[in-house]
Amino acid sequence: MKKILFAATAVMAVAALGLTGCSSDNGRGSETGTDEAASGFSADSLIGVALPDKTSENWVLAGSLFEEGLADAGFEGDVQYAGASNAVADQQQQISTMVTNGAKVIIVGAKDGAQLGTQVADAKAAGAIVIAYDRLILNTDDVDYYVAFDNFKVGQLQGQALLDGMAAKFPDKTTYNVELFSGSSDDSNSAVFFDGAMDVLQPKIDDGTLKIVSGQTEISQTATDGWKPENAQRRMDTLMQGTYQAEAVDGVLSPNDTLARAIITSVKDAGQAELPVVTGQDSEAASIPLIMSGDQYSTIYKDTRALVKEAIAMASALQAGDEPTVNDTESYDNGNKIVPADLLTPVIVTKDNAAEAYAENPDLLALTK
Ligand code: BGC
Repeated sequence: MKKILFAATAVMAVAALGLTGCSSDNGRGSETGTDEAASGFSADSLIGVALPDKTSENWVLAGSLFEEGLADAGFEGDVQYAGASNAVADQQQQISTMVTNGAKVIIVGAKDGAQLGTQVADAKAAGAIVIAYDRLILNTDDVDYYVAFDNFKVGQLQGQALLDGMAAKFPDKTTYNVELFSGSSDDSNSAVFFDGAMDVLQPKIDDGTLKIVSGQTEISQTATDGWKPENAQRRMDTLMQGTYQAEAVDGVLSPNDTLARAIITSVKDAGQAELPVVTGQDSEAASIPLIMSGDQYSTIYKDTRALVKEAIAMASALQAGDEPTVNDTESYDNGNKIVPADLLTPVIVTKDNAAEAYAENPDLLALTK
């Protein structure tokens, strides 16, 4: 069963798009793409990879994995990161250069998914295939495929973890004080994560189980500009100093690990006796020990190795003139079209299942010891 939760309102902020990818059926490889495949290109072609700034470990890791993986697949890889300042313009320029250099496939982890229309149009005009990686590219016909973890599912898992964590940590409570954080509004994933979480949390807000003491429940109020931890920390500091003088915060929905750590620091600095249940995402090295110690309740495992491999497999299929694997042709409406997607399944991780979840990833597994 799949559903589309996309409201095609052409508003400025991506956050306000209500863009939602939702799939409860992650059957892998059961369908093939509906988009026209390329007729094939030479096996040593240039493949461009344009990644955003390094706001979390997964992006850092993706760069080296793409370099190795593309070389192993026989391609000439060109992997670029947008710089920390001027990232949008940087990325636009990098994609243009890839087009000029004759890249046959351009894989894009967008800095701002709504600001690449011109560049991907040029790529298509030059005959390149455009694959959105991890973050969807919005408001354009010129994106061929999307490869990502199921972002809506990520949000649902975070919402459920928040409820489960609070029930376990505060067995005597029947209502909980909660605050909500979301990601950067220029990242198309942010609204999808948030919508997924609210899919689980909203009924509990409505029935009074969850009290959002600040009253800040709109994504515009919860957003964290640039996914920067200092911005999350500043907002949490303000909440602790204002809203949580007299009562404790029991749970915080954090969209990723970087922000979770900032939120935990803020609550510690404020001197609250017992830490709230805090969610996360990405299984970052700095957060896994916090999960094991109980300071951070949960994270999400999205194996970057698998996602990069999947994106490169798409390029290889296209090179061979085959249709790449697509398992979702309903969920990801980018405002112009539904982009055929290859979605991988995210895994929720808490102290209880960390060893099992990371069993195939020695680096992460070591951090659970
Ligand atoms: C990714 C997350 C990441 C965030 C910040 C999102 O688009 O899906 O894994 O935490 O960007 O880098």
